[in-house]
Amino acid sequence: MRRTIVAGNWKMNGTLDEAKALMETLIPLVNHCEEADVVFCPPFIDLALAAQMLQGTDIALGAQNMYFEEKGAYTGEISPAMLVGAGCQYVILGHSERRTYFGETDADVNQKVVKALQHGLKPILCCGENQAQRQNGETLSVVEHELREAFRGVSADDARKVIVAYEPLWAIGTGVSATKEQAQEVCRTLRGVLGELYGGAVAEDMRILYGGSVNAQNAAELFGMPDIDGGLVGGASLKAEFAQICHY
Ligand code: PGA
Repeated sequence: MRRTIVAGNWKMNGTLDEAKALMETLIPLVNHCEEADVVFCPPFIDLALAAQMLQGTDIALGAQNMYFEEKGAYTGEISPAMLVGAGCQYVILGHSERRTYFGETDADVNQKVVKALQHGLKPILCCGENQAQRQNGETLSVVEHELREAFRGVSADDARKVIVAYEPLWAIGTGVSATKEQAQEVCRTLRGVLGELYGGAVAEDMRILYGGSVNAQNAAELFGMPDIDGGLVGGASLKAEFAQICHY
């Protein structure tokens, strides 16, 4: 049985004070959550505080990005070892906002996945189509391509540690979620591709999330679909509503 996972992607929200207040609200509501593994992914600057505040809880910590080099002259970047040192177990990689606004390529995402795994970080690997691609019937080929590229050179043992997140761009931050049937269709396809790459047993063990306007109203029906193992939550992760999603 795959255990549900709900990760909150805070994006570029939260000064240190705001992060503290948000965690003071959320921690008592989602600690020891029976329904799901819970992950907070705050901005880099809030990670150290979050690690401190999450001590003694079973809430995990994740970052929203990292660079694939070990260290050196990469101004403004954050290394995998820094994330591990700050207490992260997870790292979101290949989010569409990184791909769209910061020019991340499939090859970048692949290098990041490989490097994160070398450091014992569990990637939350995002893929998804934009509106035009969906309208042109390209959804499944787009996500399949992104998935195959991201897993280049990753062994089956390592692949098991990756969490895949299907995030259609048209559903992110728009208030218009994919329907449960749309999300299920893509997540099932992704699992099929993972099966081709790593065998059915590995694919069955891997967790695949849906992300894009997940809220307290739609979480239960989305997470109830056979190939959807939880959610990557943006906007609603900044409110007490996140707890309702975790306890869907
Ligand atoms: P949203 O964002 O829940 O605000 O749509 C999801 C995401 O981008 O991870």
